[in-house]
Amino acid sequence: MMRIMIRSLTNPVATSRTEVHPNRTRLTPDILDLKHEKNVVLLAHYYQSPGIQELADHVGDSLALARAAERTDAPIILFCGVHFMAETAKILNPTRKVLVPDLHAGCSLAESAPVAKFRAFVDAHPHHVVVSYINCSAEVKAMSDIICTSSNAVRVVNSIPTQHEIIFAPDKHLGAYIQRITGRKMLLWDGVCEVHVEISADKLELLLEKYPEAKLIAHPECPEHLLTMADHVGSTSSLLDFVERDTGTTFIVATEAGILHKMRQAVPYKRLIAAPVHADNACACSECPYMKLNTLEKVHAALLNEEPEIVLNEDIRHRAYRALRNMLDLG
Ligand code: 13P
Ligand code: SF4
Repeated sequence: MMRIMIRSLTNPVATSRTEVHPNRTRLTPDILDLKHEKNVVLLAHYYQSPGIQELADHVGDSLALARAAERTDAPIILFCGVHFMAETAKILNPTRKVLVPDLHAGCSLAESAPVAKFRAFVDAHPHHVVVSYINCSAEVKAMSDIICTSSNAVRVVNSIPTQHEIIFAPDKHLGAYIQRITGRKMLLWDGVCEVHVEISADKLELLLEKYPEAKLIAHPECPEHLLTMADHVGSTSSLLDFVERDTGTTFIVATEAGILHKMRQAVPYKRLIAAPVHADNACACSECPYMKLNTLEKVHAALLNEEPEIVLNEDIRHRAYRALRNMLDLG
């Protein structure tokens, strides 16, 4: 289910320079001033750091942010997420200047589908309908018939008449999950999210022994062996909804740990545990290195200098728009 957090006029960070907020830093007042002066809308994905989420006008999943980008009338969009998300904003709202804090904030799924290789694959299956997960480049979107996100992939695949064969790219785990739900056979591109595949089933088993009352909730970018352990599978917004709605009191969250910020705000009285990864890293949790390239310093610099900016070839943008439009028109 699509979900978005919209800053209200009472938001302590976004609207007031005098109230104290735990995520306030020395850059906060300057960022807020620049945002206001230049009429910038700041969009942030749930995987961004708490400091960035607290400054954003909208925090959401990839679908909600695409919709927010499309409907904004602000002349400048500062997109705090990864590159494909900012490109999507530009595709949907081309007359806006779309800025990012760091142009190198990529995505292993988008990287897994280089343009020439994907073109050859699509050309080899000319009668297949091409469904691409939004985590791909503008060029790959331009070669696709319809885009999906983890929020609406089932609906998108079900919208394709059963006589058509389907290519699903680039996430093979999301694709396999959608196949299991819809019963549709699909040709899957061999891409993975390097973050979700690092979640450790062995460590999860240990956590579930320690907290037998816990419910495991997982993003569908996780491999099948993790998804079969889960009590609930869904997009970032669906996981957030689940911890709010479910009567359980302890949840192990198998996705990027940034989502825990909004979850803790929504249900501060529930125990929320980030799923452990194979490596013994500092947070003992799952962190996307690309998402975390964005910092408040880079947000400040992007606002000040109005760069880096997303620039797209108009022909690619136009064709990518068609595929995105097909998704958005499904509702
Ligand atoms: P959502 O669509 O659930 O936001 O997931 C997007 C994603 O993969 C971010 O990495
Ligand atoms: Fe890409 Fe995975 Fe990072 Fe999402 S979490 S941006 S899918 S690498």
